Amino acid sequence: MGQGVLTPGFARVDGVLHADDVSLSQIADAVGTPAYVYSLGRVREQYTRLERALASAMPDVPHRVHFSVKANSNLAVLRTLQECGAGVDIVSAGELFRAREAGFGGADIVFSGVGKTAEELAHALDVQVLFVNVESEGELRLLNQVAGDRGVVAPVALRINPEVTVESPHEYIRTGEKGHKFGIPYDDAEHVAMLAHTLPNVELVGLDMHIGSQIAVWQPYAEALDRIKPLIATLRSAGVQSLRFLDLGGGLAVTYENEAPADVEQFAAGVAAAVRGLGLSIVFEPGRFLVAESGVLLARVLYRKRSGGKDYVITDAGMNDLVRPSHYQAYHRIEPVSAPHGAIVADVVGPVCESGDFLALARDLPDVGPGDLLAVFTAGAYGFVMASNYNSRPRPAEVVVDGDRFAVATERERLEDLVRLERAHLQWRSA
Ligand code: LLP
Repeated sequence: MGQGVLTPGFARVDGVLHADDVSLSQIADAVGTPAYVYSLGRVREQYTRLERALASAMPDVPHRVHFSVKANSNLAVLRTLQECGAGVDIVSAGELFRAREAGFGGADIVFSGVGKTAEELAHALDVQVLFVNVESEGELRLLNQVAGDRGVVAPVALRINPEVTVESPHEYIRTGEKGHKFGIPYDDAEHVAMLAHTLPNVELVGLDMHIGSQIAVWQPYAEALDRIKPLIATLRSAGVQSLRFLDLGGGLAVTYENEAPADVEQFAAGVAAAVRGLGLSIVFEPGRFLVAESGVLLARVLYRKRSGGKDYVITDAGMNDLVRPSHYQAYHRIEPVSAPHGAIVADVVGPVCESGDFLALARDLPDVGPGDLLAVFTAGAYGFVMASNYNSRPRPAEVVVDGDRFAVATERERLEDLVRLERAHLQWRSA
């Protein structure tokens, strides 16, 4: 193998995989494995692609891309998107803390999530987030109370469940169908909106939807908007004049294997046509689209094994480092960093004591052996953020690359970190 671009941001130079201009084997030597490596250039490129498409499709409609922090909450990645001009979409006090650390101000933040606590809501009001996406009548009433206690009026957008069917690859990432836990059931939406209109300590500033993840086509968004727009009209004719925002959520798809990625131009054109004349600012919450392809997980082959007529490649990265293959049966392309010869079909598995601990099943690979480095692609979204310490495995390092430079953005956890909050000698309290 010679030169060649695999995923923009990652290419082979003299047969060796590089992230931008830095060799992945150099990074593995310096930082060890497993390690996540992100190309910041690739993050910027995705943001710019989406923002340009939106700006050119609807130059006269105010809009902002709020990166969904759950996809990759690394401070260096957040900072990069902040510098690009993005806002953020957060779902916890932890993500709020990270967003603030990365330099986002309150007005850059929308606060989503199905189960926010009173403390989290209070915290969000203290930093004056742009709005809170409220998902139930109970949450609305709690927010009204928390805001009243603080003497402020909380800006609220109601997340409506448009109850449309979405073709996404796994049922766990569909969120906008009837009966899901997310959002306000469509039939209750008008009632809850009118309640928001009358409660004294909230202002109904918007409506919100998020219909699922890894969606490649515009159609389900169009169907959902066909449900939301009549609601806007109904509310306005009932005297609600405070609506300023329409949040369309995230969900734009990327390519893991050979699926079609989201067509951002088609998406932007669809949005432009659907929101024309509404007089609302449009908020987007993409996560995966902005970061998935920027990242690889670097792992080293520890052993080869044959069992029951099957070949196994055992690596030092497992399901605790990247859970998507085992949790969603997700496909992640795997390539050796240097290109050995030969061909095998093997299960690529980790060291975790679970039969479900795999990165790939029955995968065509070059004939890799102990010591070889593997790059697991499209790991920049829902990779490190879903990593755990299962089997008391320290979580991997995160490295960012920018052109010909690289830096450790998150140190690899140390063994002491594993027990930092634990006590072997207990301080008993009496009942
Ligand atoms: N907004 C809300 C309210 C969300 O719940 C999500 C994702 C997003 C935005 C961003 O969606 P995206 O643009 O990334 O599709 N762990 C799963 C994905 C779970 C998505 C959860 N919500 C995975 O690894 O595929």
